[in-house]
Formats: sequence, structure tokens, C-alpha cells
Amino acid sequence: MGNVVTIEKVGVVGCGLMGSGIAEVTARAGFGVTVLEINQRALARGRKRIEGSLGKAVQKNRLTAVERDAAQGRILYTTALADLADRDLVIEAIVEDFSTKRKLFGRLHEVCAERTVFASNTSSLPITDLSAGTRPGRFVGLHFFNPVPVMKLVEVVRTIATTPDTLDAALDFGRRLDKVPIVAKDNPGFVVNLLLVPYMLDAIRQAERGVANVSDMDRAMMLGCGHPMGPFALCDLVGLDTIHKIAEIMFGEYREQRYAPPPLLRRMVTLGRYGRKSGLGFYDWSGEEPVPAPL
Ligand code: CAA
Ligand code: NAD
Repeated sequence: MGNVVTIEKVGVVGCGLMGSGIAEVTARAGFGVTVLEINQRALARGRKRIEGSLGKAVQKNRLTAVERDAAQGRILYTTALADLADRDLVIEAIVEDFSTKRKLFGRLHEVCAERTVFASNTSSLPITDLSAGTRPGRFVGLHFFNPVPVMKLVEVVRTIATTPDTLDAALDFGRRLDKVPIVAKDNPGFVVNLLLVPYMLDAIRQAERGVANVSDMDRAMMLGCGHPMGPFALCDLVGLDTIHKIAEIMFGEYREQRYAPPPLLRRMVTLGRYGRKSGLGFYDWSGEEPVPAPL
């Protein structure tokens, strides 16, 4: 296990909001990428998201048509897990649920080569727990930020079992994507979500209390603090279903009230109001401009 780790061939599991962004930036950086989804429908949706984003980059002159075609040509799409057998690195970006992720890593461990490094993009689950029973030495967290093509940070999470060569390979991979990697310890929430999640949950609690309306609270944080978007627009960007799962996991871990999911969040998730990805969250995203939705 102590060999030099060379990463050229990458697998991305899950092609939703995050997986599509991770696959896109990885292909743009010159790596071969195999994307795995749960069924053909989800695969087609993910492919459309990647190709749409590459198309926009061309429109904005950030990418040439030739570079777009080359990036697209480096991505293979599949629903067969065995297609990841030859990967040097597999990055998991599926739903934020411990047993679903654990099951996936167990199956990946059976099919992938011994050298393959496993990484999870989890927002809040302990990497150590995900790695148990697979290959803890060759396992890291690779936590990207939404939207992946724009946000420069990647948190590289090392556990007490991660080998130094695996950590170095993960840091090098992050730099080759033109991201800025930082190393974080394996505590749920790492660095950013430890601070950001209570902020988003607190904003929802203030909406429950009726402190001000949602769009005024967003405006307040943008104009008063210079944030690029307010907390409710951010919740809608991240996905309320995902925030709800993150809050439950972090509350379970820390037992601190500031991580507890507020009732309003749970109700919105129950109604399928997931934010931008479902078209309705704190805002209605179905028109040209988002408009505050009834609460
Ligand atoms: N893909 C590629 N490029 C994108 C993009 C996407 N999905 N979304 C926006 N961009 C680009 C735009 O094309 C634009 O580029 P140019 O300036 O070159 O034209 C630039 O980003 C700015 O976009 P817009 O003008 O459309 O809009 P904006 O100025 O409001 O920026 C934003 C949008 C980048 C999302 C900005 O509002 C922002 O930074 N918001 C905060 C995002 C944030 O905090 N993310 C972290 C979420 S938490 C997380 O990810 C961790 C977790 O585990 C939950
Ligand atoms: P999403 O709901 O947009 O996408 C998840 C995708 O995973 C779906 O397309 C689903 O079909 C697929 N999937 C589910 N089970 C699968 C399986 N067994 N095999 C293959 N594909 C499977 O979610 P997302 O926002 O992309 O989040 C994915 C992960 O990234 C989560 O762990 C989340 O916490 C983390 N994350 C999210 C954000 C964010 O802002 N949304 C930011 C950083 C990290």
C-alpha cells in the first residue's frame, strides 16, 4: 500500500449538482473521467448538466469550442459499477446518507484495483466511518464547493489512517484542477460547514420568527456584509434536502442546538421544496428572476 500514487484516470459516482461539476472540472483539467449514475435517466440528466455548463463556458469565452469538445470527449457515462475497475481515483458525490454511501464504497472496494484511491465529497459524514471495511489508508475526503467550476477551495480531509502518499496525491490532484486545497481533520463539517451550516440554519430560524421577509434578509447580508448571495438564496443553491440531511448528521454528532434542523426546513423538504434543483424553495425559480415563495 505504500506505493507512489499516480492519478490520471478518475471515476465520479453521482452526477447531480456536485458530481456534474466535479466531472466537468476534472475533464477540463485533462483527466479521463468515467461518470457513474444510478440509472439511465439520472445519467442523461447529469450529462445534460455537464454539457450545458461547458456550453456556457464557451459562450462566455472562458473555453474554446475545441477545448469543450476535448473535455466532452474525455468523459464516459455509465450505469455499470464494474466500469470503474481501472480508475486511479474514485470520487463519490451521491446522496448525503451514511448507509447508501457505505454500501457503495463496499461494492467499489470489491471491483476496483488495490491502488485505487477512494474519496468522498460528503458535507458532514465522518470520512473514517465511510472508509471502514474498505481501504482506510487510501481514503480521503475531497470536499468541493458549489458551484464547483467557480469555487476555488477544496477541503482535503485526512483521517488518522490516510497514508502520506495518498494525502499528497489528493493535494496534487486538487492543484491540478486549479483549486486551492487545504487539509482538514476528520471532524464532521470539516472547516467551512462547521461555520456555514449553523449560519444557514439560524437564518431559517429567523424566518420562522418573522424577523423580516426572506428577500430583505438576503439583501441585508449582501449589502450589509458584502456576501455574494444571502442565506436563503444560498440554501436554495445548496439544496434544502441536502441541508436537512447535513443538519441531522451534524446534530447527531455534536448534539448542539445550533446544528438542529429547524421545523420549517423539514416541512419544506417534506413538500419537495428542495430549492433551485426542484424549482421551488425559499424562492420560486421557475421564471426569469427568482421571486420569494409563500412561507
Ligand atoms: N458554473 C460555471 N460558472 C458559473 C456557475 C456555474 N454553475 N454559476 C455562476 N458561474 C459564473 C458565471 O458565469 C459568472 O462568470 P463571469 O463573471 O466570468 O461571467 C460568475 O460565476 C458569476 O456568476 P453570475 O454573474 O451569474 O452570478 P453571481 O455574481 O451572483 O455569482 C455565485 C453566482 C458564483 C454562485 C455567487 O453568488 C457565489 O459565490 N455565491 C456563494 C456560493 C457559496 O457560498 N457556495 C458554497 C456553498 S456551501 C458548499 O458548497 C458546501 C457544502 O457542503 C454544502
Ligand atoms: P444531488 O441530489 O444533486 O445529486 C446526487 C446524485 O447522486 C443524484 O443524481 C442521484 O441519482 C445520484 N445517486 C444516488 N445514489 C447513487 C448511487 N448509489 N450510485 C450512483 N449515483 C447515485 O446532490 P448533491 O448536491 O450533488 O450532493 C452530493 C454530495 O455532495 C452529498 O454528499 C452532499 O452532501 C455533498 N455536497 C453538496 C454540496 C451542495 O452545495 N449541494 C456541496 C458540497 C458537498
